[in-house]
Amino acid sequence: MQVVQEYVQRWYESGLEPDEYICHGRSGNLVDIEEAATGERRQVLTFCTNDVLGLVQNPAVQQAAIASIQQYGTSNSSCSVLSGRIDLHRQLENEISEFKHLPHTQLFLNAWMALQALMDAFCHLAIPVPGFQHTRETLILSDVLNHGCIVSAITNAGTRSGKLFGYSPRVRVRAYRHCDMDDLARKLKRYARPDDRILVVSDAVFSMDGDIAPLPDMIEIMSAYPDSVLVMDEAHASGALGATGRGIYEHFGITPQTALDKGIVPLIMTTFSKFAASAGAAISSPVPELKPLLNVSPTSIGTISLPPPITAAALESIRQVRQNPNIVQRLQENTRYLRSRLIEHDFEAIGETNVVPVLLPQEINPKVFARKMIVEHNIWVSPIWFIAKPRLRITANALHTHEEIDRLISVMVEVRKSMYKAALKPALDVSSLEAV
Ligand SMILES: Cc1ncc(COP(=O)(O)O)c(C=O)c1O
Repeated sequence: MQVVQEYVQRWYESGLEPDEYICHGRSGNLVDIEEAATGERRQVLTFCTNDVLGLVQNPAVQQAAIASIQQYGTSNSSCSVLSGRIDLHRQLENEISEFKHLPHTQLFLNAWMALQALMDAFCHLAIPVPGFQHTRETLILSDVLNHGCIVSAITNAGTRSGKLFGYSPRVRVRAYRHCDMDDLARKLKRYARPDDRILVVSDAVFSMDGDIAPLPDMIEIMSAYPDSVLVMDEAHASGALGATGRGIYEHFGITPQTALDKGIVPLIMTTFSKFAASAGAAISSPVPELKPLLNVSPTSIGTISLPPPITAAALESIRQVRQNPNIVQRLQENTRYLRSRLIEHDFEAIGETNVVPVLLPQEINPKVFARKMIVEHNIWVSPIWFIAKPRLRITANALHTHEEIDRLISVMVEVRKSMYKAALKPALDVSSLEAV
């Protein structure tokens, strides 16, 4: 432990550790938080929650979770293969299948486990069956900025949930440049061998850059490789993209059938931690045979199934979105308003979705910027300084009002003025950065 202790001490001395806040309650976007280090309490306006549709406090969603506890208890206390599923699991799978236009859906505890299960199932066929010879290698192409759960799953894809299986054919992984379709086409051409099974995987909305994968171009390029598989991680796309929140296919005015028509197998991973007021993930597919393999992967069989209140909250949330798509439109309208106000005030907001990264000049430490916002102005945004290039990460949600967004902007302008004065003089004429 000596190395760990020395390392963490240095980490603290360098100011690299995240500030820790403890939530004591929430009403709309007002959150009562305690700073763990000092015990100081304050009420802040949050722009860092992933509860993008504001459903965690929706009475119907909360009631569904409570009713499920009364019917089933708080946990299923086992995995579904050994102890069966609850009816809510089946209902949730059916609801997602309809929402995503893909008929076969399997649930998981989270995105990391879902994608590991997919690698086990797709690359290694999950369990050896006597007499079946699996000989074909897998080639995986992955966007270089994909989320950590994808990176982890594909890095471990050569094994089966951490175990080496000598009998299983090789899995080869290549990264392509971020959203660069020429590079994807080039790498497919360079690395695909005649007998390969090809899988291309991408965030639909990139969680740190807030931009959208070029899905139609991906389909076009992959159509040269019949039976190739296209995995879209819709963690930030579900409930946020498309007129009714169905995700990236709806955003581009197509459905997974478009991919199928081009000979591509579309898979979608939905997660419930953002739009669906819950936790957990699902993989949806047009292929019925994939589901039993996902069901016996170690990340299904070796762990608990989704607890009843988690399942019920996700199920009711999707029903709310389907009944009431105007919450999606509110989110999109708030996103447009927030982005336009940032641009108006010369902030470098990148991407195009409700995940709004704001790049700051190199000299400005995003952690200090965000800390000033919270301590001096009671506005909460996420500073990013170690999992991606330094930035502020702001998330718009459906509950924000224009007045709240205006308040955020005015605070950002004020903090920028105070920090840039100290850090950037005379490189920037701060007098031109007027407060709003
Ligand atoms: C693109 C992407 N995929 C997966 C995840 C993980 O989702 P979850 O925490 O719901 O399992 C995230 C979470 O931030 C994400 O942004």
